[in-house]
Amino acid sequence: MSKVTVVGAGNVGATCANVLAVNEVANEVILIDIKEGLAEGKAMDIMQTAQLLGFDTVVKGVTNDYAQTANSDVVVVTSGLPRKPGMSREELIGVNAGIVKSVTQSILKYSPNTILIIVSNPMDPMAYLSLKTLKLPRERVIGMGGALDSSRFKYFISQALNCNANDVDGLVIGGHGDTTMIPLARLATYKGIPITTLLPVAKVEEITQSTMVGGATLTGLLGTSAWMAPGAAASQVVESIVKDQKKMIVCAAYLDGEYNMKDITIGVPVIIGRKGIERIVELDLNVEEKAKLTASEAAVRATNKILSDMNLI
Ligand code: LAC
Repeated sequence: MSKVTVVGAGNVGATCANVLAVNEVANEVILIDIKEGLAEGKAMDIMQTAQLLGFDTVVKGVTNDYAQTANSDVVVVTSGLPRKPGMSREELIGVNAGIVKSVTQSILKYSPNTILIIVSNPMDPMAYLSLKTLKLPRERVIGMGGALDSSRFKYFISQALNCNANDVDGLVIGGHGDTTMIPLARLATYKGIPITTLLPVAKVEEITQSTMVGGATLTGLLGTSAWMAPGAAASQVVESIVKDQKKMIVCAAYLDGEYNMKDITIGVPVIIGRKGIERIVELDLNVEEKAKLTASEAAVRATNKILSDMNLI
């Protein structure tokens, strides 16, 4: 039996709840929002697809009633504003930090042993804020960004190779920001074949650039930030926890010396299982990749500093 709560019934939260249900990742999914009736409506809409799609997961929507989330194994936090066209994820910190802080406190009151998956932007600082304010062990706070960015990277590679995206492997590490994420083209493969041997340098560079602005491109097209892949990426992390799959997924993890970084939450490959982040995988990065990671670290630290300037940590 597993119970998963999704906080925020906006586009990303509702999509995540839907994917969790359709894939029967959990037995019970609680969708909670502050807007009266929104979570109830989205949950009812999802449940009306149960007999069409043949799933048994029960999705329940509630307004602000955190008691209903009690004893959740995993909680996905999507609360806060999405970005508008032209906005960076970092610009959302002023509004979203306060929301994420209060939501995660309410969650922990009823599910003291839960594992948190942070989706709200700016994602790396929001994961850092949650870990610091709730004083949780690092195993139990996971930032979702790298799962999404890696999925976008694989999509762009599959488009360039005109192949099945499931045959592509690739990792995007670093911060979940337009200028901070690092698609590791050197390590990306098509069925084990390095993509750098299959595509010209300029094409690989184009894929890298498209991946980095992947979220911004969709925000421009949609008028608000994307939700299908973000919701599904969060569900992938939940599934690896509740089914103890021990998948390697890039997530924002709190580092304590790994990659020569301390006291920061940033995207690196991790093994996700029943305990949350069960292992941090240290890649052997080359000089250029290390330099990019150092620049990404500095940018994430600068955003984290805003949290202390706001007296939130
Ligand atoms: C994106 C947002 C969810 O990348 O951060 O689409």
